[in-house]
Amino acid sequence: MTDLTACYLGHNLPNPLIVSSSPITRDLDQVRMAEDSGAAAFVMHSLFEEQIESESLDLHHHLEAGSESYAESLSYFPNMQTYNTGPDGYLEQLRRVKAAVRGPVFASLNGTSAGGWVHYARLVEEAGADGLELNVYDIPTDPNLTSQQIEDRLMELVRAIRQQIRIPLAVKLGPFYTAPVNLLTRLHGAGATAAVLFNRFYQPDLNIDDLDAVPHLKLSHSDELLTRLHWVGVAYGRVPIELAVTGGVHSARDVIKCIMAGASGVMLTSALLRHGVGHLRQLLADLRHWMEEKEYESIAQMRGSLSLNKVPDPTAFERGNYMRVLRQGVGPTW
Ligand SMILES: Cc1cc2nc3c(=O)[nH]c(=O)nc-3n(C[C@H](O)[C@H](O)[C@H](O)COP(=O)(O)O)c2cc1C
Repeated sequence: MTDLTACYLGHNLPNPLIVSSSPITRDLDQVRMAEDSGAAAFVMHSLFEEQIESESLDLHHHLEAGSESYAESLSYFPNMQTYNTGPDGYLEQLRRVKAAVRGPVFASLNGTSAGGWVHYARLVEEAGADGLELNVYDIPTDPNLTSQQIEDRLMELVRAIRQQIRIPLAVKLGPFYTAPVNLLTRLHGAGATAAVLFNRFYQPDLNIDDLDAVPHLKLSHSDELLTRLHWVGVAYGRVPIELAVTGGVHSARDVIKCIMAGASGVMLTSALLRHGVGHLRQLLADLRHWMEEKEYESIAQMRGSLSLNKVPDPTAFERGNYMRVLRQGVGPTW
């Protein structure tokens, strides 16, 4: 019997598939259906630093207004009108999700600076969260801010959150750090158990008629996975922190690539919004089928087998690949 079990953020899971932070946890029917289809764990939608600091409905209206441009994803949204986006409503929804499923539920706090809002880490723990994902969606625009200062600020935030809680902590990062492998090691030192690679960068589009920058969100495709595979593959076995992938996981082959790169957790949102949460069942069936065909006995056996440390040609992860691609024009698709 193929062993799909995995271990992520201090929890033994029946498989590595995790529903990443998204509107799915706003709808208990979706949550139950996802677990019935095989979801091993859930990350709640985020509670934002700005929400906690202001507790104002303005932000709610602002976010709702932006959602009109979510095009494809909007049609899959549960009814947002029934959801209270305020901090108290968040804790309430966390308790409801916890009560609805058997597997672990990780809360998600989204912020960049170590302010008074970090005490919500304790409140989500008290509300029953099995772990906390801290999403650091940091867009530094100050020309005087150095990369060292940005990373130091991140460590200060992680330490401040760590001090509030005993549950395991994951940090969800963007892809634009100068020395990501070093950063992962520092995050572990600051108290993080896992890192989630990577936040998608939601650049605003420019409306050249109205002369404005407009919010823009499209669901992902598998080609976004490559950046994640690269950095998980480079970091695996060389940093003390657990690694999870978010961004571009759509098929069982994507899941297998994440695990072979070295991921402990494999997270999905776009695929579930596009195909419905029942897609998890197909992914798990395909994963099991592939492993049986290739005679893999367990997920643990596959993990990291295509990481930088293990791959037959490590230069594929380094500048060697860059030079080869440009010299030989490997597989141009234009
Ligand atoms: C509609 C929507 C809402 C999301 N909300 C959050 C959120 O509240 N917090 C967060 O950390 N990530 C959020 N995400 C990002 C996802 O968790 C995930 O990291 C991202 O979509 C990349 O994964 P994917 O390619 O599987 O979609 C959201 C994504 C979508 C599409």
